[in-house]
Amino acid sequence: MRVIVGITGASGAIYAQKFIEKLFKKAELEIIVSEVGKEVIKQENPYFLAELSKYGKVYEFNDYNVSIASGSHLFDAMIVIPCSMKTLGLIANGIANNLIIRAAEVCMKEKRKLILCPRESPLSPIHLENMSKLAKLGVIIAPLMPAFYTKPETINDLIEHTINRLMDLLGVSGEHVKRWRE
Ligand SMILES: Cc1cc2nc3c(=O)[nH]c(=O)nc-3n(C[C@H](O)[C@H](O)[C@H](O)COP(=O)(O)O)c2cc1C
Repeated sequence: MRVIVGITGASGAIYAQKFIEKLFKKAELEIIVSEVGKEVIKQENPYFLAELSKYGKVYEFNDYNVSIASGSHLFDAMIVIPCSMKTLGLIANGIANNLIIRAAEVCMKEKRKLILCPRESPLSPIHLENMSKLAKLGVIIAPLMPAFYTKPETINDLIEHTINRLMDLLGVSGEHVKRWRE
């Protein structure tokens, strides 16, 4: 399985890190980090940026002269984690002014699975309209909202459950997922 992972400048770099660490064992990864994404990672989780290339091929945010900018590139799915409201809004409106948005646009036009993991609160009517528009077009909107029915004891437990559910959505088996009433 080949998956494109976009990381943007919303808070929650730890989600991207834990997700990539888990997914790279099951899938070939192609990774793009936005400029502000890099800044947020530096603030929240500095060592992760230097380690990224261990997990897959890392592309420049503003380079369109690469395979993943083309509809001819074969891949199975794309996920943007965390997804800023800016990136979500640009995807919703077809404005491909960086490689993350171009890859997402390709994903939509080629009818592949696209998962966006927004992190913002509260949400404005514009955010909600953009999310609604994308959801109606088949994009999976999976906000980074931790669940508590698993009785988490640590922040890591909360993150782990969220990313295991994202692995479910991607169709990659997430071992140790605590499922309700199972
Ligand atoms: C430290 C920091 C935290 C941020 N957190 C969020 C956030 O949680 N959600 C969001 O939508 N934007 C957040 N922003 C604002 C975005 O980074 C900003 O809108 C930026 O233009 C997004 O660009 P990108 O989508 O290309 O990364 C944050 C910015 C900074 C510097």
